[in-house]
Amino acid sequence: MIRIRWASAAANDLQAIHDYLGAHPPQFTRPTIQQLYDAVLSLTKTVPSQKAPGWRGNSLAICDTKHVAQTDPGRQQPTAIAVLGLGYVGCVTAACLAELGYSVIGIDTDEHKVRSVMAGNAPFFEPGLEELIVSNVNRRRLTATTRIQEALPGASLCFVCVGTPSAASHDVSLESLRRVCCQIAGTPRTAPLTVVIRSTVFPGTCAGLSQEILRPGPMLSIAFNPEFLREGNAVDDFMRPPLIVVGGEDPEPVERVARLYAPLGVEISRVSLRTAEMLKYACNAFHSLKIAFANEMGTLCERLAIDASQVMGTLAKDTKLNLSPAYLRPGFAFGGSCLPKDMRALGHHASRLGLKLPLLESVLPSNSAHLRRAMDAVAELPAQRIGIFGLAYKENTDDLRESPVVLLLDHLLGLGRELRVYDPRIQLDRIYGSNRNFLLSSLPPIGSRLDHTLDELTSWADHVVLTQRPSADDAAKLAATGLPVLDLTGTWPS
Ligand SMILES: NC(=O)c1ccc[n+]([C@@H]2O[C@H](COP(=O)([O-])OP(=O)(O)OC[C@H]3O[C@@H](n4cnc5c(N)ncnc54)[C@H](O)[C@@H]3O)[C@@H](O)[C@H]2O)c1
Repeated sequence: MIRIRWASAAANDLQAIHDYLGAHPPQFTRPTIQQLYDAVLSLTKTVPSQKAPGWRGNSLAICDTKHVAQTDPGRQQPTAIAVLGLGYVGCVTAACLAELGYSVIGIDTDEHKVRSVMAGNAPFFEPGLEELIVSNVNRRRLTATTRIQEALPGASLCFVCVGTPSAASHDVSLESLRRVCCQIAGTPRTAPLTVVIRSTVFPGTCAGLSQEILRPGPMLSIAFNPEFLREGNAVDDFMRPPLIVVGGEDPEPVERVARLYAPLGVEISRVSLRTAEMLKYACNAFHSLKIAFANEMGTLCERLAIDASQVMGTLAKDTKLNLSPAYLRPGFAFGGSCLPKDMRALGHHASRLGLKLPLLESVLPSNSAHLRRAMDAVAELPAQRIGIFGLAYKENTDDLRESPVVLLLDHLLGLGRELRVYDPRIQLDRIYGSNRNFLLSSLPPIGSRLDHTLDELTSWADHVVLTQRPSADDAAKLAATGLPVLDLTGTWPS
């Protein structure tokens, strides 16, 4: 992949590229990528010094077809890929893989879609798709058929992109997927085939299909490669992907799929089959959550005559805490002096204004349910003496306000469990004010169960529960004791 940053390219080059594209409208006479690449290279060589001011980070991505692994090592011929299902995902996948230099055959039971592709037309509207189809059909890198038996024997990889619509149960329907897997399993082959499931399926589905239908072996392997495209932006999302995930249990098929994407120059996340399946749902859940959050905040803003776009636009400028991995690590319930209080206040005002904001209203109940799961997990420990590491709601603070650990202790003491607590930042003789008063007056008494050192805790306990992340020093000391650890923070190595 050659990526030309507008910001650093020469102004004359850009004008020339623009003119070049304009003079070659992307129809049958559209320049090949190689021609465009050669043209851009020669232009960049001629006027390298004139900088273009004012461009803001846009880039022109051009695939360098010279560097595409066009040959399948096992076969000594162009990598042949079958794409099953020529819907939104399959058609874009087929056209883009052909654009990367592979030999692609699309298969669909819908004759109209197959005829469209063969005639150089996109079967549905998607910006940039028709241009890719026509140029790759013309270059004989893309073809289509309704007959799977004809297409599969020549392919070394088969992308499965059939629909998995909602079933009456609200689960996804696997009808089409099972049907095509049966067809794949029943098609004789003389060379190894990797089946790459791209349809969205719930974790465990690929393993189930493998076991029941596909039965992997020397001639057939399976991988999962979820699609993250957005309709309306699908070609660009494929060529400049936000994320590429390849899942599999066997490294060989995973590498075979990963190699296909090498020309895009993007890091590939290699994970297990189940993780890859889950990742697709995690991404879509996160997208849905963000939209619902923005809409609920927008609703509240509107009712308060506050500019919602300004609020959300400003929120998005914070890439340290807001749009970042912060607060995205599964762990213990939240607490402290701010989040619970402020979520309660938001709920209060929404209800005062007569607004229904179910997402925002569900946050505190969700947190309580999470705490309840933690309480149950600790209560079920087969331990006589439970050592709790961490009393404040998170590490590096002595603030005890609304710490979920206090509720956890309360619950365990109520069950009659024996426990002691250690928190590196909370010592009765060193803290004062409301935190000290709380520890001395709490019922059941927590203050009397506080240890001064981690050693005291670990020499007494027969099981340790982590409610906050220990420092590297404390983690090493704890690991050296060999005590079993129940980690509620998601940070302890398993
Ligand atoms: N559309 C999206 O934006 C998007 C994005 C990411 C993932 N996905 C997932 O990708 C999958 C495909 O989605 P889509 O929107 O492309 O679906 P779609 O309904 O547009 O396309 C599915 C295609 O599969 C074909 N098909 C069905 N049975 C077949 C068979 N036995 N043999 C050959 N072809 C067959 C259908 O004729 C249809 O053309 C789904 O699991 C979806 O959840 C979709």
